Amino acid sequence: MYFIDTHTHLFSEEFNEDGLAVIHRAIQARVKRLLLPNIDVSSIEALKSFKALDPEHCLPMMGLHPCSVNENYKADLQIIEKELFGGTNYIGVGEIGLDLYWDKTTLDWQLDAFLLQCQWAVDLDKAVSIHTRSATYEAIKLLKSMPKVPKGVFHCFSGSLEEAKEILKLGFYLGIGGVVTFKNSKLHEVLEHVPLDRIVLETDSPYLSPVPYRGKRNESAYIPLVAEKLAEIYRVDVLTIARQTSLNAESVFNFTV
Ligand code: NI
Repeated sequence: MYFIDTHTHLFSEEFNEDGLAVIHRAIQARVKRLLLPNIDVSSIEALKSFKALDPEHCLPMMGLHPCSVNENYKADLQIIEKELFGGTNYIGVGEIGLDLYWDKTTLDWQLDAFLLQCQWAVDLDKAVSIHTRSATYEAIKLLKSMPKVPKGVFHCFSGSLEEAKEILKLGFYLGIGGVVTFKNSKLHEVLEHVPLDRIVLETDSPYLSPVPYRGKRNESAYIPLVAEKLAEIYRVDVLTIARQTSLNAESVFNFTV
């Protein structure tokens, strides 16, 4: 039995002191692969250092996060494009998407950057890791407008049943993390209508720690806590959750453990 963390920012400064120990604890917890979505141009070096450090377990993605889309985004995307189409083998295109929670004024730039990066994913036949906040409908609309829709994951999904249905119809998977363990979360009600073969596990670490670590720094070793909660919701054992979600992750990101 093993798990896959499909979304961790292990290269962020919260892990500066103990990144290797975090990987080690993940492996001890049977989390065998850590997928690392990039944030922006400034994080590329740190991201690559983890790939160099532990290429077996750390699988980086390349992309420009919507919260990092600013007046320099075109120049930044040129650097991202060079990375993606260059010699480094990235497992996916991410983290990309739309975020209207923090800043609505950059929407046009965000849409432009999101569409372009989705097109790169189609061209390279790679999966996307999509972030949406207060913009899930806009993201679905953009994907639907594409002649060929990329494959991928709506990471940290916490939307409505209607949104989930639209996302599944597009062929996408839902990334489920610590939020599902929160006492006030209604996510379990949505998941009752989502087949298990469309779910992947994630931490989004260092953020969104599952209970009982809520509010503290998150790490990939906590993935089994998310799996245990899903086992409860789907009324299956943790082994079934581990097997199916790992199969899903390997299928959409096209790798084998
Ligand atoms: Ni993220």
